[in-house]
Amino acid sequence: MADPLLTLTRAFEAAIAAAFGAEHAATDPMIRRSAHADYQANAAMALGKKLGRPPRVVAEAIKAALRLDDVCSKVEVAGPGFLNLVLRDDYVARELAATAADPRLGVPAARDPETVVIDYSSPNVAKEMHVGHLRSTILGDAIARVLSALGHTVVRQNHVGDWGTPFGMLIEHLIDQEQAGEGDLSASDLTSFYKAARAKFDADPAFAERSRRRVVLLQGGDEPTLGKWKSLVAASMRYFGSVYGRLGVTLTDADVAGESLYNAALPGVASDLEQLGLATVSEGALCVFPPGFTGREDDPLPLIVRKQDGGYGYAATDLAAVRHRVAAIGARRLVYVVGAPQAQHLAMVFAVAKLSGWLAPPARAEHVAFGSVLGPDRKMFKTRGGETVRLVDLVDEADDRAAKVLAEKNPDLDEETRARVAHAVGVGAVKYADLSNDRIKDYVFDWDRMLAFEGNTAPYLMYAHARIRSIFRKTDAKPGDAIAVTTKEERALALTICRFGAAVEEVGDTLCPHKLCAYLYDLASAFTSFYEACPVLKADDDATRASRLSICDLVARVLARGLDLLGIDAPDRM
Ligand code: ARG
Repeated sequence: MADPLLTLTRAFEAAIAAAFGAEHAATDPMIRRSAHADYQANAAMALGKKLGRPPRVVAEAIKAALRLDDVCSKVEVAGPGFLNLVLRDDYVARELAATAADPRLGVPAARDPETVVIDYSSPNVAKEMHVGHLRSTILGDAIARVLSALGHTVVRQNHVGDWGTPFGMLIEHLIDQEQAGEGDLSASDLTSFYKAARAKFDADPAFAERSRRRVVLLQGGDEPTLGKWKSLVAASMRYFGSVYGRLGVTLTDADVAGESLYNAALPGVASDLEQLGLATVSEGALCVFPPGFTGREDDPLPLIVRKQDGGYGYAATDLAAVRHRVAAIGARRLVYVVGAPQAQHLAMVFAVAKLSGWLAPPARAEHVAFGSVLGPDRKMFKTRGGETVRLVDLVDEADDRAAKVLAEKNPDLDEETRARVAHAVGVGAVKYADLSNDRIKDYVFDWDRMLAFEGNTAPYLMYAHARIRSIFRKTDAKPGDAIAVTTKEERALALTICRFGAAVEEVGDTLCPHKLCAYLYDLASAFTSFYEACPVLKADDDATRASRLSICDLVARVLARGLDLLGIDAPDRM
């Protein structure tokens, strides 16, 4: 246990139970970092109110029952009934050494590991991945990395849009192209392919009619049609794979579980819902009206399971996916990293899945919603020409801009290193800008801010890491395990390092990666203050120098590990 906060919390729970009875043991001791001591505990305030006793008296009683001789050098009742806690130097040093010796760096392993399905990225076949898919991909990947690190079994599910009526026109367009001997799907630009098909569909009634017939053939399982569909899907998957590779995202082909996967299950979903008495036919469509969802006029809202024309849509597929994830994959936690506009759709799917018993405790579903990416004008992020921004173009620009910034900051880097580091910095900056904002909020995409070396940015954190690595290039000394914590800055840094595990755990609970970003920023800032105040290589004596080198190394390891959990590389030089 390397987090003093945990040790203090346990000690308070025991003291409260000893002083006031076991029924109060679960009282939150409300321990926070404090400017007056290392920590302050506010437990006596709430407890005093509950017991009808003055908080100061309660605080004195807790203090008398606290067994913290090994941990605290001072425990003091202050003000209306706060408890100020000062940690012992040797205790802080011990906990820090324990973190340094722990390969997990204090990240706890879940006591009750779960199988977690994470539905993320989920782009649509034959369409360009755009900046809207960026957030799902980046957030989902960070969440997947964090939950795996906490010891859960993570199953990634890329719910690719690979089925539906648009495939009629796409296949007809492909056939036209092949007949004209034009176009090669493997090399073609998928956006223009989609647009050309769409334009023909809108302008040419005969083409539109062919497309509709093609949808029927596709749904009927016609082999040649399925063959064309497969080549369209394969071309898109190759393309998505290349984007994931460039972004350093952990999704692979094995994680693809597209909408089409559920086709065979859809009639069963419909008939089971009918048999359960949950679905009714309304205006020719099979619908479920889950309680609590109403439209503008207070009229019940339908979740459409089967459309008027007999086809199944997005909602039916999602219901089948819930069933599959719980029953076949064995997931207990279902995480959907999908934009906020789909909140109602997902809430209705979850509600129906619960009504039908397909989603029953301990299994549960969570919508990890997120806001939009905005341009400098605070409107939806678009290119100059008003088009949606393509993800690949964004990565290209990130590489270029980062290379320019690096050339200025560090002209000595050789060509090859610079290109590699520029890619890490560019992609890292884009990812970090996305992750460091509270996900539910919209954010403005601002190259200059995300690439700045100051502030809560990836370059700032990466630079702090590289700076520490550069210290070790200037010395033969290796970090050891003797750690002493004496100065104010060392102590603040040490206590921040010890919080790493709690920060990661919090992301696992809340699925809000910005909390880990805020932690890493605190850590890098505490390091900067330490480094300004405490000489390392020029420390007064060998013991201090060895200890500080160990602290530096530990900070670098925590920074690199934290960034890695966010999907960001930390190069050794910058
Ligand atoms: N393909 C969908 C889109 O681009 C996102 C799918 C999200 N996942 C889900 N299970 N509905 O909007």
